[in-house]
Amino acid sequence: MRVRLIAANWKMHKTVDEALAFWRAVRGRVPAGVEAVVCAPFTALHPLAVERREGDGVALGAQNLFWEEAGAYTGEVSPVMLADLGVRYVIVGHSERRQLFGETDETVNKKVRAALRHNLVPILCVGETLEEREAERTEEVVRRQTAAALDGIAADDAARVVIAYEPVWAIGTGRTATGEDAARVARTIRGVLADRYGAGVAEQARVLYGGSVKPANLSQFLAFPEIDGALVGGASLEADSYLQLLDAAN
Ligand code: G3P
Repeated sequence: MRVRLIAANWKMHKTVDEALAFWRAVRGRVPAGVEAVVCAPFTALHPLAVERREGDGVALGAQNLFWEEAGAYTGEVSPVMLADLGVRYVIVGHSERRQLFGETDETVNKKVRAALRHNLVPILCVGETLEEREAERTEEVVRRQTAAALDGIAADDAARVVIAYEPVWAIGTGRTATGEDAARVARTIRGVLADRYGAGVAEQARVLYGGSVKPANLSQFLAFPEIDGALVGGASLEADSYLQLLDAAN
């Protein structure tokens, strides 16, 4: 039985005070049947880790990591540093990083492997651009990104990876995929897992939808059993709205 997951991706938003205010508003209010993860900017991770108490019901996530453990990599943050703070999840391969910061299928794979080595759960983002969608290449792109990201990863680890289908054209635009479309792509993702690892892993891994998710439209995705939750940007920034998403997923 897969537990639903609502992951907040704050992107480059929130000062430390704002992050702490959000945390205090949400903690202890997470419905029992849902997992809540807040992927905060690096600057807020340590203060949130200090603030976090047993029973808060919210896990900490990062938005990126580097694949080496330590060394001369100015500006990078390692999986060891994240694990040291009690961070449990890390977003890998978000389309903003692929498009704006030159991440490739190969670097995404290195990051997924590094996360797993340090017991962090990668939230691997895949999804097509508008151009690719119009050229009817969605399935091919998602299949390629998923397979490449899982290169060299054993079945046990693959089952722990959370895969977020985020069509690039739906991010921050107010446009969403339909529930049917998102479910079809979720099946494609599970198909990649099944081909490589067998039906058990395909059944165990969680697949999320992301792209203009709001409390009012979340149920259109969760109506499909293939979809186990959402990766949410804009609508995760206000505590009230995030709590509404958690309630809608319960
Ligand atoms: O990672 C979440 C994201 O890219 C979707 O953002 O603002 O459309 O919910 P948003």
